[in-house]
Amino acid sequence: MTGKRENVLIEALPYIRDFYGSVMVIKVGGHAMVNPSVMSDIIQDVVLLRFVGIHPVIVHGGGPEITEKMERMGKKPEFVGGLRITDDETMEIARMVLVGNINTKIVSLIGKHGGKGVGLSGKDGKMIMAKRKGTQKIMIEDVEHDVDLGWVGETEIINPELINIVTANDYIPVISPIAMDAEGNALNINADTVAGDLADALHAKKLILMTDVPGVLRDQSDTSSRISRISVDDVEPLIEEGVIGGGMIPKMRSAKASVIGGVERVHIIDGSVSHSVLLELFTDKGIGTMVYQDTE
Ligand code: ARG
Repeated sequence: MTGKRENVLIEALPYIRDFYGSVMVIKVGGHAMVNPSVMSDIIQDVVLLRFVGIHPVIVHGGGPEITEKMERMGKKPEFVGGLRITDDETMEIARMVLVGNINTKIVSLIGKHGGKGVGLSGKDGKMIMAKRKGTQKIMIEDVEHDVDLGWVGETEIINPELINIVTANDYIPVISPIAMDAEGNALNINADTVAGDLADALHAKKLILMTDVPGVLRDQSDTSSRISRISVDDVEPLIEEGVIGGGMIPKMRSAKASVIGGVERVHIIDGSVSHSVLLELFTDKGIGTMVYQDTE
């Protein structure tokens, strides 16, 4: 190939310069996590970010893995409004899967690619303090019922101190979405929300949310209809129009909140595309959907 390979690097240069020294929160999750080679590519990208002077902070999910483990142990996962009802046993399984398995795997991959990872949960350094969400109302055959969500948490305070210490010393923190309540109990919290809250608290330059879709699609049935850039002002109109629907609604609303809260740009990218992080960050067009403030 006689292609202009140098152009790739030249296109990246202004971004490398602009990103130098900044913090970026990267939420990894979805199907990318169950494919070891995709996962390895993602972590390789993250290690590269560290070596061009960016301070990456990884937040991981684990919903599908928790569900799988529960089913293997003969437990039936139940959800209310997208939240997993978390009894004592479920919380134990969630901790095993998130902290014991996924987190340590990511830390190993960072090491394999030449970086230094540190596994943490939201309990470490009282990083994520939360309270129990308590009961939620659901309708069963037109009758209202109260359902106790158990150990599901709602974030109250974020203490980013420990992360700052870790990143300032060139380590890459890997955070499991588990919070602590005032009594020291572990609480199950949504990983997207944690990523958004941490990005705000760390004054991150970017929040990158990995999904299983190419971004926001104008036409759900056409994966080439991706909307490349969305201003925060257009998020609600696009929800009303139905262009942003389903699981993308909470993601886009939290993206919007983060941008308003001071994160420069939020990027929603398809984690299953090889090296999606590099393609989004170091090219002009990117490969996902970027949420930004119109004053840019
Ligand atoms: N690489 C640039 C950045 O990280 C631009 C990304 C553009 N992405 C997009 N989906 N339009 O800020």
